[in-house]
Amino acid sequence: MTDISSILQGGYHHPLSRKWQAERQLTKSMLVYPVFITDNDDEETLVPSLPNQYRRGVNKLIPFLAPLVAKGLSSVILFGVPLAPTAKDPTGSKASDPDGPVVRSIKAIKKAFPQMFVMTDVCLCEYTSHGHCGILHEDGTLNQVESVKRIAQTAVDYALAGADCVAPSDMNDGRIKAIKLGLMEANVAHKTMVMSYAAKFSGCLYGPFRDAAGSAPSFGDRKCYQLPVTGRGLARRAILRDLAEGADAIMVKPSSAFLDIISDAADLAKNVPIATYQVSGEFAMIHAAAEKGVFDLKEMAMQTLDGILRAGATIVLSYFTEQILNEGWLDQ
Ligand code: PBG
Ligand code: ZN
Repeated sequence: MTDISSILQGGYHHPLSRKWQAERQLTKSMLVYPVFITDNDDEETLVPSLPNQYRRGVNKLIPFLAPLVAKGLSSVILFGVPLAPTAKDPTGSKASDPDGPVVRSIKAIKKAFPQMFVMTDVCLCEYTSHGHCGILHEDGTLNQVESVKRIAQTAVDYALAGADCVAPSDMNDGRIKAIKLGLMEANVAHKTMVMSYAAKFSGCLYGPFRDAAGSAPSFGDRKCYQLPVTGRGLARRAILRDLAEGADAIMVKPSSAFLDIISDAADLAKNVPIATYQVSGEFAMIHAAAEKGVFDLKEMAMQTLDGILRAGATIVLSYFTEQILNEGWLDQ
């Protein structure tokens, strides 16, 4: 006879008892929607490599967000996509331009939806002529001191404009501390969350984003500042360092191929929320495979999100947010 302890199926034979197996369930408040904003106020352009995702001008933003807010959208992360020929220079000086798309969008969103948690990606690559995530030395390597100063100033400017959270994605060493000190000096540290893209890996999954944001580097790659895919130890060091520098939340990026890193983050950073970014390449990949008939889009999207939660994240930045809310995937 089979041993008593061998019989597991009785514990999950019903849809509800299967649901009960989850340690946590995806809720709307866990979802952050990434939004691309151009400097052409009336623009609304489909991003070819990101299915159903658009670059929008400030004037199109509020009408687009309103129905999503009604369906439970509680947070967005903003990415500026400057298209004007004068918008880029070697130091990314337009990153926090008061007339630029990000600062104006923060104000517009906060005015239209005061409850919305507005996050801003903080980086220079969309604003530098060379497309790298900081200011460069003459030999083309990152100038840490100058980059960190610029990144911190940009974060402070976003916070002063009303952002609830600044999320530096540049991977310059020491930027979390510089941002925290900058926020304190500007008297906004008490109302600005610092979410560090602490464990951000290099690789091939950011292509559609760089297409959307026009931020591909003009020479070289990002391997000297984004982590090597195999670098689990480096990721752990980066997480611990950013915590020590004052990060209020830790992000792991990309998500599905890095679930061990999410689990490490949940373990190392027990006292802060853990976020992960299901990046453009992951989103595009799922769409492409679903289109080929490999699997059902919704089922795969939900499976990846459940995996992310199981690994230990409770905040997910995902392009699927829009469809999840619009089609009520969490309402059933
Ligand atoms: C900017 C930034 C990138 C992403 C988020 N912030 C691109 C990059 O680092 O090359 C990627 C997001 C995505 O692929 O969806 N540094
Ligand atoms: Zn960047």
